[in-house]
Amino acid sequence: KKSDWKETTWVSPSNIALIKYWGKHGEQLPNNPSLSLTLKNSVTKTKLRYRRLDEPVPDSEDLKVAYWFDGERNEAFERKVANYLRRLLPEMPYLTSLELEFQSTNTFPHSTGIASSASSMSAITLCLVDMEKKMGLRKPPTQDLSRRASHLARLGSGSACRSVYGGWVTWGEDGLLPDSSDRYASPLEQDIPEQWQNLRDAILIVNSDRKKVSSSAGHGLMSNHPFAEGRYRQARKHLNCMMLALQNGDEKTFVEVVESEALSLHGLLMTSSQDGLLLQPESLQIINAVRAFREKTGLMVCFTLDAGPNVHLLYRDEDKEMVQQFIQEELLPFCENKQWIDDEIGEGPYKE
Ligand code: PMV
Repeated sequence: KKSDWKETTWVSPSNIALIKYWGKHGEQLPNNPSLSLTLKNSVTKTKLRYRRLDEPVPDSEDLKVAYWFDGERNEAFERKVANYLRRLLPEMPYLTSLELEFQSTNTFPHSTGIASSASSMSAITLCLVDMEKKMGLRKPPTQDLSRRASHLARLGSGSACRSVYGGWVTWGEDGLLPDSSDRYASPLEQDIPEQWQNLRDAILIVNSDRKKVSSSAGHGLMSNHPFAEGRYRQARKHLNCMMLALQNGDEKTFVEVVESEALSLHGLLMTSSQDGLLLQPESLQIINAVRAFREKTGLMVCFTLDAGPNVHLLYRDEDKEMVQQFIQEELLPFCENKQWIDDEIGEGPYKE
C-alpha cells in the first residue's frame, strides 16, 4: 500500500542581479560570474506533499507530479517542473518512486509581470532537498543542504541558485573569491562592509505584460551574438570593480557599474532579436528622472533592470523618506496603475 503523505513548506525570495548572468553553456553553466541581492518581500511559498509509490514509474516521462498555483492546478508550470525533475534524476534517482504535489503562492501582486522563476525554482528545490534528508534518501547524507539546493536549483533556473542564500550572493567562477563555482552560488556576507547591508529596492512596474523574451531563448541568442566575448570580459571587469568599490565605500563606481550592467543587458537583448526590445518609453523616462534626482540631491540612488521593462531603484535605508517621496511624486506617474513593490535586501529562504 502507498505510504502516508508527508509534507514540508519553504518560503524563498526572488533576487535582483547587479552583475548580470546572460549567456550559458552545458548544464546551465554561466558564461560569466554574476552578483545579486536577495530580496525580502518578493517571495514564493511552496508546500511539497510527498509519498512513496507502490512501484517506481516505468518511464521518466511518467513522473508523478502535480503543481498548484494559488489554489489552481497550473499545467503549464507543471510541465516545467516535470522537466526540471527529469533533469534532477541523475542526482535524485528515487524521484521515480515518489508522488509529489506542490502548492505555491507568490507575494508579488498578480498583475506585475515580475518573473518569479528564481523564487519558485529555489522554493521547489529546498522542499526536495529537505524531503530527501527527512526520508534518508541520500547516502552518505548531505552535509551542506544550502549548497546542494543551490547546485540543484541552478538546473531549474540559473538565477534560482542565488536565491538559496540571503544578502549579497555570487555565482560563477571569478578568479577572485576562493569559493566561487559555476555549479553553485556562494553567500558573501563576510566580505561586504556594513554600509552595503541595508540597501532597498523599489520595483517600479512600468508594464505588467508577461510577454518577455523567455530567458532560455535569450541565453541561447548569446551564442552567436557578435558582442558575446566583449560582454563576458566586461562582466568580469565589472565584478572586479564592484568588489573593490564595495570594500572602499566607493558609491560613484558602484552606481556606474550597476547602471552600465543594466544597459549592457538590454543592449545585448535589443541587438539579439526583435523581441528583445523590452524597454518602454516610461522605462527611459524613469531612468532619466533617477539620474536627474541623483545629480540634484547627491543621494546614492541608481537603477537596474531585469529582462523586462520594469525598473528597479536601489537606494539606502537611511534615505528612505526622501527617495520614497521622489518615487511617489515623480516616478509613479510613469508606472502602470501607479504600481510598485517596496522591497529590500533580505535574509534568504526559510522553512515554515
Ligand atoms: O535564471 P534565468 O535563466 O531566468 O536568467 C536570468 C537572467 C537575468 O535575470 C536577466 C539576469 C540575472 O543574472 O538574474
